[in-house]
Amino acid sequence: MNTIKIGLIGLGTVGTGVLQMVMNNQDKVSNITGQNLSVKTIVVHDVNKPRNVDTGDITVTDDLNAIIDDPEIKIVVEVMGGVHPAKEIIFKLLNAKKHVVTANKDLIASAGEELAAIARENHCDLMYEASVAGGIPILRTIVNSFSADNIIEVKGIVNGTTNYILTQMQQHHWKYEDALKKAQELGFAESDPTNDVAGIDAAYKMIILSQFSFGTHITMDDMAVEGIQNIQLSDVKQAAAFGYTIKLLGIARRINDGVFAEVGPVLVPLDHPLATINNENNAVMVTGQAVGDTLFYGPGAGGLPTANSVLSDIVSVTKNIVLKTTGNSFNNFQAEVSSAAASE
Ligand code: NDP
Ligand code: HSE
Repeated sequence: MNTIKIGLIGLGTVGTGVLQMVMNNQDKVSNITGQNLSVKTIVVHDVNKPRNVDTGDITVTDDLNAIIDDPEIKIVVEVMGGVHPAKEIIFKLLNAKKHVVTANKDLIASAGEELAAIARENHCDLMYEASVAGGIPILRTIVNSFSADNIIEVKGIVNGTTNYILTQMQQHHWKYEDALKKAQELGFAESDPTNDVAGIDAAYKMIILSQFSFGTHITMDDMAVEGIQNIQLSDVKQAAAFGYTIKLLGIARRINDGVFAEVGPVLVPLDHPLATINNENNAVMVTGQAVGDTLFYGPGAGGLPTANSVLSDIVSVTKNIVLKTTGNSFNNFQAEVSSAAASE
């Protein structure tokens, strides 16, 4: 069986999850795609840092050229984060004809269209399911399952760190600072958590969701964005006394020819479905003209849940590589699942 070699940039919370999943889910992936996957090279910032995953024979280096210049590596996963130098690195990878999978919402929200154009020029895939709502396959769902409906509104809880903090404040009366520290320890927060607590991370995700839902590119300047830094324990207790919970919500709605979008803390009635979404979980409510309200729920942060979204992109890219080289199409996913089950 052919082996597709992968380069991994970043071995933190998400990178570690991706490596574990590639190692542990070989059989499932090869049954569906007919290809083996193998991580050949990992690029990190500090090669001497102790890791809590066994990298075995894989080359671990701080030299990006070990991936960019390696013709054997066909797919590169970028999970280092931040806009720079990730943008310049992905630019080089695409121009080196490598398919790229990323979880980087900062980058996709600010330069996604530019990078997608470079990907198209080079006939490469650029995929980023993990950039919105961690383990919830929401971008795929919007593309595949809302293709014939008109989405009117998309809203929800799209930041795990702030939902974790608010949950601890509401249910256990933790102080804001203690809950943030724990969210960082659990790997939910960004390396600099300012974007999480200030609502900017959620705004990036709403930019990407708006693009997918309405085909409209909005920017940070088009949105009112407020975070949870000023929410006090007393606010949370008062809200509960009146039958509400405080949630950081992102909302994007079609209006006339444009899109209205905002992020901020909202008083949600306790009997609303979004009030029940706790800890690092996220939930995205997509309202279609025909279908009405739909709700997608799951872990919005964390290594393995996010890695699952990254892996689903890697599998999609692998199928595209097979399609280009053999003409074998994987369009009918139900037939695909049945035939994989039959071959077991
Ligand atoms: P971490 O901070 O845990 O890991 C970042 C990794 O990138 C580290 O291994 C670090 O190396 C490496 N790195 C940083 N800078 C460089 C550089 N210049 N060159 C090479 N390697 C570098 O981040 P996460 O895993 O939490 O997040 C990664 C991405 O995934 C981000 O874009 C984040 O927004 C996104 N994401 C994160 C989620 C989560 O739950 N954490 C969920 C969804 C998306 P070293 O280890 O040596 O320091
Ligand atoms: N820091 C992000 C969050 C990671 O807490 O939601 C997932 O994108």
